[in-house]
Amino acid sequence: MTKPKSRKLIMTQYGEDFRACSAIVDANIGEPGYGEVLVRNVYAGVNGVYDLNMIRDAVSYISYTPPTDLGIEVVGRIEKLGPGVRDFKVGDAVATWKVGSGYRDYQVANVGRLYKVPSASPEILCIMPTGISGMVGVEQVGELGTGETVAVSAAAGGLGHIIVQVAKKAGNHVIGICGSDEKAEKLREIGCDRAINYRTEDVADVLKREYPNGINIAYDSVGGKIYDAFIDNLAVKGRLVISGYTSEVGKPWEQVTSPRLYQKLYFRSASVRGFINPHYEEHHPYAAERLIGLYLRGELTVFVDPNPFIGLEQVPDAVEHLLSGKNLGKVVVKLEK
Ligand SMILES: NC(=O)c1ccc[n+]([C@@H]2O[C@H](COP(=O)([O-])OP(=O)(O)OC[C@H]3O[C@@H](n4cnc5c(N)ncnc54)[C@H](OP(=O)(O)O)[C@@H]3O)[C@@H](O)[C@H]2O)c1
Repeated sequence: MTKPKSRKLIMTQYGEDFRACSAIVDANIGEPGYGEVLVRNVYAGVNGVYDLNMIRDAVSYISYTPPTDLGIEVVGRIEKLGPGVRDFKVGDAVATWKVGSGYRDYQVANVGRLYKVPSASPEILCIMPTGISGMVGVEQVGELGTGETVAVSAAAGGLGHIIVQVAKKAGNHVIGICGSDEKAEKLREIGCDRAINYRTEDVADVLKREYPNGINIAYDSVGGKIYDAFIDNLAVKGRLVISGYTSEVGKPWEQVTSPRLYQKLYFRSASVRGFINPHYEEHHPYAAERLIGLYLRGELTVFVDPNPFIGLEQVPDAVEHLLSGKNLGKVVVKLEK
């Protein structure tokens, strides 16, 4: 029997342009060893910011040396079991996430990093691991409570639209910040009490005018002016979670001159907290179970970006689409044609 063809996307060199610094190459499908399975990747989730940062050697805690395999999360189907595998069978749908395992047709994965999922559908990628990150970040780092005001930037994005719903379900007033009226409308549909289109309204002005008691949790993955507006409008004991800085990616760091941060935080007992999901791995299984449960019961809306990207050839298009800010929800690439 002839083996199916397998390919993967690799980073070929450092640079500023994902497309120019990546290439598709043939890959061995691989034989699953003890405790491993062979997975046919069906859909890959796109993390445009991380993808570009790998190419730019700008992931501050790790350096990836070319050639390096690209892509992180996928949903797929198990095609073969290695010896010693008991809890999975051929045909099971699974989700996995690990740098280098995403933008490829097949992967061999240890069962320790497989999540059994109801189907290998793109909707699952809104939850695993993006939604998990959002839930853990806002709950553990933001100390999500109830009856508070929570503001979320890039609220209609892959991460943001899950945080909006987690915060709303916990009984909070939720402000969603986004870059178009269409996204603002979608945010109202999933429960945002106030949607702010930053292209037509000044975020700092709106927060100051409409929320004189301030914001209790500001969940930010955009940075720049939105981060500044959050800092200036934190409530007493307010918590700002730094979860990314999409607006600065691919540009030289903006140099800002202002009084030290303590001047803004001290008299409000407010704080700014960094969050990166690998540091909170112990919370992942619990968050995954809760989010999948909500989704299956129809209590969580997931936004899969409607632009179809098909095959490894279109990964650069998908990355560029996300980085353009035009996406609505999680950007995915269909790998199985
Ligand atoms: N901390 C963690 O563990 C963790 C985990 C996952 C992702 N992240 C970070 O969270 C952020 C969101 O990730 P994602 O994959 O879910 O992407 P995403 O939110 O689906 O897409 C990025 C969004 O950022 C918004 N944006 C605002 N200003 C922008 C600008 N100047 N240029 C481009 N986009 C801009 C755009 O929406 P609007 O224009 O509507 O605002 C765009 O849709 C990224 O920075 C990512 O690195 C962090």
